[in-house]
Amino acid sequence: MKINGAAYRSVWVDSTDGRSVRIFDQTKLPFSIVTLKLETVEAVAQAIVTMQVRGAPLIGAVAAYGLALALRVDASNESLEQNAAMLAETRPTAINLRWAIERMLAKLRPVSPEDRLAVAYAEAGRICDEDAAQNESIGRHGLGLLEEIAKRKAPGEKINILTHCNAGWIATVDWGTALAPIYMAHDAGYDVHVWVDETRPRNQGAALTAWELASHGVPHTVIVDNAGGHFMQHGQVDIVIVGTDRVTSRGDVANKIGTYLKALAAKDNNVPFWVALPSTTIDWRVADGVRDIPIEERGASEVTTVTGQTSDGRIESVRVTPSGVNAANPAFDVTPARLVTGLITERGLCAASADGLNSLFPEQERQ
Ligand code: MRU
Repeated sequence: MKINGAAYRSVWVDSTDGRSVRIFDQTKLPFSIVTLKLETVEAVAQAIVTMQVRGAPLIGAVAAYGLALALRVDASNESLEQNAAMLAETRPTAINLRWAIERMLAKLRPVSPEDRLAVAYAEAGRICDEDAAQNESIGRHGLGLLEEIAKRKAPGEKINILTHCNAGWIATVDWGTALAPIYMAHDAGYDVHVWVDETRPRNQGAALTAWELASHGVPHTVIVDNAGGHFMQHGQVDIVIVGTDRVTSRGDVANKIGTYLKALAAKDNNVPFWVALPSTTIDWRVADGVRDIPIEERGASEVTTVTGQTSDGRIESVRVTPSGVNAANPAFDVTPARLVTGLITERGLCAASADGLNSLFPEQERQ
């Protein structure tokens, strides 16, 4: 996607040295656009832990390059296994991380240590290319849903979409998942407007989704996380589209904390609730999301403080609670499949159910 007219992906190999990995530091957005050069597997792990890179598909893609960087130092079997295990521990909920590492291991284990490096970079590059293509395809399938809504609108009426967290291009390699159909609808001339949940505590909506949509010229309005139900009750939301960090084999959806409450409000108001995902986000080994998806617990300080930019340009955190207060900070929740209208995948739309997923991915059923 574009920043100031120039096309970017959210991860790429540095063209000057051909080996280090470049990312945008998402902790600096939207205040400044800073790219980071990651030169070691440790730097990659650190960038994932500190959420300088975030978003399920992007975490997987960057971790794949992390493994390539590790092999530059030591391409032995031991190094491969140790660094894969270390990267897999960086964040627990998004399944794309484990998926990407397992794919890299399957590719690299049979290769001799001398030949591993080139294979690792090539495979990480393929993971990136495939993610970009899958998300573009998700965009095309999701665009169909928005076109259906447009047919029911009177001339001049907007299509109102609500989204939670950030599932745009900066959370993937390119295009995004939930935002891909919105970009395509906007580019096709549809009058779309996005309600952007601010997404406390880290404000991925207010900071990242709003930045992305503004950069692309898509009309949007940031709302507090508790406002979505109100707008749904008043007929101001035509559809909810969110991304996801892990979908189970029966269609339960883990996504940023607060997604479940949006799904409940959508159900109560007959607002369709769609989840956009590449198949790399499906965990075929798990069925019951509430029971079996590990939910990341993050630090209390994310809840007790807010981070923003001061009038003189510094990024600062300020406390919003009494000092010493207890705070709990589950980063994700699980929306049961029964609350999900459907899934938007690279292969098309399906019901959030085992049958729905198997109809699009029959090869998984056969495993
Ligand atoms: O904690 P984050 O910011 O990595 O969480 C990201 C989300 O919940 C996204 O909505 C999800 O990964 C989908 S990314 C296309």
